[in-house]
Amino acid sequence: MRRLLAVAAVVLLAPGAAAAAPSGSGLYAENCLSCHGPGGSGTARGPRLRGVGAIAADFYLRTGYMPLLSPGDQPTRRRSPFTARQIDALVAYVASLGKGLPVPRPHPERGSIPVGLRLFTEHCAGCHQVVGEGGYVTGARVPPLEQASATQIAEAVRIGPYLMPRFPRTQISDRQLDSLVAYVQWAKHPDDRGGWAIGHIGPVPEGLVAWLLAGTALVAVCVVIGKRNEA
Ligand code: HEC
Ligand code: HEC
Repeated sequence: MRRLLAVAAVVLLAPGAAAAAPSGSGLYAENCLSCHGPGGSGTARGPRLRGVGAIAADFYLRTGYMPLLSPGDQPTRRRSPFTARQIDALVAYVASLGKGLPVPRPHPERGSIPVGLRLFTEHCAGCHQVVGEGGYVTGARVPPLEQASATQIAEAVRIGPYLMPRFPRTQISDRQLDSLVAYVQWAKHPDDRGGWAIGHIGPVPEGLVAWLLAGTALVAVCVVIGKRNEA
């Protein structure tokens, strides 16, 4: 009996045992199963999650779109009730339910803002109009894009949340997506012109060059003065 108690105490006192590894399936059972069904099989209150992949889970959870409060609501951006680690666990669990796309890794620094503007005008502006402003389409609020991170922009384009259409690679390639993300991010701060285009690191190398030149000149002067003193 005493030994049992000791074991129990160790289990209970193990530092952060419960907090260390949040269980994806446990969190799912508590927060998602009522709408998405056992193992993501879907119910009348929520769609099947088999095969939606890490990409959809990551987007819907990190934007706070999920968990939805009422099945008829349009998902909206809000603070997630979960910690980042709980979200990691839930994303891994949903990804394990079927084959699906991973979380995308966009590279806006490789993109072109003018190309992004053209793509945005062609594919997105019909609903999103201006990056900083939301709007409406029949049956849905269209959110402003100011709060969306590079990853979330790429995710939204590929999965098409709610009434937004999905844009597969055949329609918008990964390279074009980089430009689109670059444009949306630039458009959040259009006053920042110039800075972004040459990259915020632009002035730093220039400054470094100035310092190097000035430094070299100073050293040269010192050497000359030193030589004179020797003479
Ligand atoms: C038919 C209209 C429509 C088109 C076209 C469209 N979207 Fe959307 N978009 C929406 C709607 C509606 C939502 C809100 C989804 C929701 O609430 O679940 C949304 C959500 C988003 C979000 C998430 C914003 C947030 O912070 O919640 C991003 C990012 C986004 N769209 C980017 C794009 C990009 C980039 C394009 C063009 C490639 C595009 N959308 C084309 C209607 C559209
Ligand atoms: C009240 C019911 C409800 C609850 C609770 C809920 N969801 Fe949802 N979920 C929905 C509905 C309805 C949609 C469809 C919304 C849409 O089309 O944007 C959805 C969509 C999703 C999607 C996108 C599916 C796709 O086809 O791309 C994911 C991923 C998701 N939910 C994950 C979760 C997770 C994880 C939880 C628990 C943390 C959760 N949901 C809790 C009702 C719910």
